Amino acid sequence: MRIREILLLISALYAVEAANECDLRSVEDGSVCVCNSTYCDTVPEVLSLSSGEYQLYTTSKDKLGFYSSTGKFVEATTTANTVTISDLDTTYQEIIGFGGAFTDAAGINIALLPADAQDKLLESYFGKDGVQYSMGRVPIGGTDFSTRGYTYCDTQDETLESFALQEEDIKYKIPYIKKAIDLKGTDPFKLFATAWSAPLWMKTTDSYTRFGQLKDEYYGLWAEYYIKFFDSYKQENISFWGVTTQNEPINGIIGININNLGFLPNQMNKWISANLGPRVRNSSYSDLKIIAHDEARITLLFFNLFTLSNDDVVGYLDGVGIHWYSDTVIPPIALSLASTSKKDLFKLSTEACNGFLHAQGLEPAVQIGSWDRGVAYIKDIFENLENDVVGWIDWNLVLDTEGGPNWVDNNVDAPIIANATAGEFYKQPMFYGFGHFSKFVIPGSVRVDVTTNTDLKVLAFLRPDEKLALILWNREDAAVTAEIQILGLATLLEVPASSINTLLYLP
Ligand SMILES: *[C@@H]1O[C@H](CO)[C@@H](O)[C@H](O)[C@H]1NC(C)=O
Ligand SMILES: *[C@@H]1O[C@H](CO)[C@@H](O)[C@H](O)[C@H]1NC(C)=O
Ligand SMILES: *[C@@H]1O[C@H](CO)[C@@H](O)[C@H](O)[C@H]1NC(C)=O
Ligand SMILES: *[C@@H]1O[C@H](CO)[C@@H](O)[C@H](O)[C@H]1NC(C)=O
Repeated sequence: MRIREILLLISALYAVEAANECDLRSVEDGSVCVCNSTYCDTVPEVLSLSSGEYQLYTTSKDKLGFYSSTGKFVEATTTANTVTISDLDTTYQEIIGFGGAFTDAAGINIALLPADAQDKLLESYFGKDGVQYSMGRVPIGGTDFSTRGYTYCDTQDETLESFALQEEDIKYKIPYIKKAIDLKGTDPFKLFATAWSAPLWMKTTDSYTRFGQLKDEYYGLWAEYYIKFFDSYKQENISFWGVTTQNEPINGIIGININNLGFLPNQMNKWISANLGPRVRNSSYSDLKIIAHDEARITLLFFNLFTLSNDDVVGYLDGVGIHWYSDTVIPPIALSLASTSKKDLFKLSTEACNGFLHAQGLEPAVQIGSWDRGVAYIKDIFENLENDVVGWIDWNLVLDTEGGPNWVDNNVDAPIIANATAGEFYKQPMFYGFGHFSKFVIPGSVRVDVTTNTDLKVLAFLRPDEKLALILWNREDAAVTAEIQILGLATLLEVPASSINTLLYLP
């Protein structure tokens, strides 16, 4: 080999693609990273490590974006201020994935950006140099994050022959789901579907929102409607991994102003055990994971009492979906209520967002740049993962600067806010906080024991590629110095004030 070829070979071996740094903009409530059609920050490449080496990614309140550094572990020296993994023998849940929802609002906002900015936005979530979401939630029809109330069969038709996907699917959901699938390539990407409202003619009230339940005679047809949805998306080459049994079934009972379909626990049991369950299992989608509950932690008590105790119902289920809307008032111990059935059901966090008290006039929908809202995500994800939850799914992937569009004025916040006027979008602290989990705690990772005598909050996972991923969250306004000790070796880290960090280490 000639010298030049040798040099080229060496440079190829050591070439680490330079990442784009955050284009930081300070705004009233904090700071964001700004992206447009020509520029967007990326996550520095995950390096292959030799035994004893680590790679550390850091995002702090003062410095948004993933900053990467590397180092090597040596002999452990101290017992003070440590974060310790002493063995890998005790294991907990296996992670299924992390992601967000392909709502109409998300698609509408993406579509308003210049084409190159659209690509950068989707790459930020799903690309190899983005936070690599591994799951997506897809509404079956409209939600409150639509610009109108609609279903796939608005005019009474008991044959469902007139069932048809709508413009929203064609323009705002399917193209972006397909781009996400392309960006994921061969990496796992799991989609699950959720319905909000049935066609009005199937409901007890003539309304998408407030009060309304399924008429008795349409329980079977409503299950057929789900199958039609999976058929229609299959024709678009989009396959699903799971389905939830109904978005927040309590909403239609208590009269919440969001597209809904109310089920009391006994009605939900009947719908699952006599209709949805048998119909799905006897279809070409028989492997779909059926995820029940799909509402806030606060209703887990009723779900535990009435549904998980019913073996006929549980026989059809694979998982329990839990939304975040009562997490600040109901302690995480309540999650144990979801683990009481005879069959082992996974617990998946299926919806979350900041700003949801905006509709009650209690907080702004959007608070661009808020570190506290990023912290709220981090805190909730910690709490869920510490309690055996297998994944965490955000609500809208993207909203506009007002937190919409939402046809019933239920605007909220999202990790990415698009500003169509400027042709740019803003990646908020929520994006980075959540990204530290979605990017590094890859599907198939298993939680292991980690302890600390510092002020840090810590979680640890053993990934399928044998690397350990430690999440180190410093909630304090001051840096915390800690010796990270893993299986007898150690390194000293200064964890910046108000920061979230992921340490990847190959034992
Ligand atoms: C996009 O952002 C970059 C970095 O801030 C800037 O240099 C460039 O002018 C922007 N492009 C457009 C089209 O606004
Ligand atoms: C689905 O995939 C098949 C096979 O790759 C292809 O022929 C067909 O055009 C695709 N359909 C759509 C709607 O993309
Ligand atoms: C299962 O589906 C087939 C047709 O696909 C139907 O003939 C049969 O009655 C169904 N069985 C049940 C139990 O629903
Ligand atoms: C959106 O962009 C416009 C045009 O550049 C600007 O005037 C406005 O302040 C931006 N909105 C936000 C919330 O940043």
